[in-house]
Amino acid sequence: MCSDSPELILVAGAGGFIGGHLVRRLEAAGHEVRAVDIKPFAEWFHLSPTAENLEVDLSQRAAADAASADVSTVYNLASDMGGMGFIEANKALCMLSVLINTHLLLAARDQGVRRYFFASSACVYPDRLQAETGVQGLREGDAYPAMPEDGYGWEKLFGERMCRHFSEDFGLSTRVARYHNIYGPFGTWQGGREKAPAAICRKVAEAIIGGSGEIEIWGDGSQTRSFTYVDDCIDGTLRLMASDVSDPLNIGSDEMVTIDQLASTVEDIAGVALRRKYVIGAPTGVRGRNSDNTLIKARLGWSPTTPLRAGLEKTFDWVFDQVKRQSDVLGRGRGHERRTDVRNRAAIPN
Ligand SMILES: NC(=O)c1ccc[n+]([C@@H]2O[C@H](COP(=O)([O-])OP(=O)(O)OC[C@H]3O[C@@H](n4cnc5c(N)ncnc54)[C@H](O)[C@@H]3O)[C@@H](O)[C@H]2O)c1
Repeated sequence: MCSDSPELILVAGAGGFIGGHLVRRLEAAGHEVRAVDIKPFAEWFHLSPTAENLEVDLSQRAAADAASADVSTVYNLASDMGGMGFIEANKALCMLSVLINTHLLLAARDQGVRRYFFASSACVYPDRLQAETGVQGLREGDAYPAMPEDGYGWEKLFGERMCRHFSEDFGLSTRVARYHNIYGPFGTWQGGREKAPAAICRKVAEAIIGGSGEIEIWGDGSQTRSFTYVDDCIDGTLRLMASDVSDPLNIGSDEMVTIDQLASTVEDIAGVALRRKYVIGAPTGVRGRNSDNTLIKARLGWSPTTPLRAGLEKTFDWVFDQVKRQSDVLGRGRGHERRTDVRNRAAIPN
């Protein structure tokens, strides 16, 4: 970390997926944390009993000021976002997150915050480099000339530039990570904002519990991606914050798979083989995306290490429990248990 311990650290978006994991990790390391989110406490994925928890709208300047008072470090993970289904249908809402970063940056500048982190995204990279499956990894310099994902990607790229200029013009020390598809337990798994790994885990769990024997795959299943386990994301974020790297860095796995391979891995973990119904018109984003980790290895001597299968095992276990609990409450389950033994694969043809 960038200052003496104990220090008060603001985690904005602490009720969300990555924010919740970060609060846990910071507190485990002995830091005092102010955890802030707009969501009601009941909906936070992780509500720490020891952090100072606040439920406020950080797009308001007064709330950003109050949240930033007396903190040495700000992690801005607050954003109105979701998976492709959400960001393709809510471009204006995604862009409005610019108010959160703007007001947090102003508050940080005016209150003498020592270091500021902004969670950017692989969505800043131009579509033209991601038009085919199996493309080369995206390097940090590829973001310009700019043509990011409409809405969400522009907001992230603008947020990055604001960090750069607050650093150059106002002397605020900023760090920027471009996260690539972060997944893991304690994240959004239903409701329309979930991303591919959680969505596939949920669909497989629902097919087992409900007995349908079928899952939907958005697109033709051949689009390629890499997925980054949340523990790696937090490791990379903390290393970046402790470093002298002020330019944006990819934090992303470079283990590239197709969406079909992602689904097959989850099925294998669950011990089932399900029919696949491909929904061709569904939102899928770019055809191919992967992270190039040359720069992060050179600058931090580190890159993500969790194999996809290992991360998915933990994620599927957690999502399965959520689906099971919900189905028990609704009385929908047919009593199907998860078949963990692959020798007992369900004989359902693909
Ligand atoms: N998860 C990923 O794969 C991924 C990839 C790239 C970038 N990111 C970025 O990382 C950050 C965290 O992502 P996440 O997956 O944890 O998302 P998340 O949706 O789980 O968490 C974001 C949190 O921000 C909160 N928030 C939204 N508007 C707010 C406001 N006005 N005031 C206070 N809180 C507000 C939400 O309630 C939510 O809890 C986001 O900035 C996101 O854009 C995530």
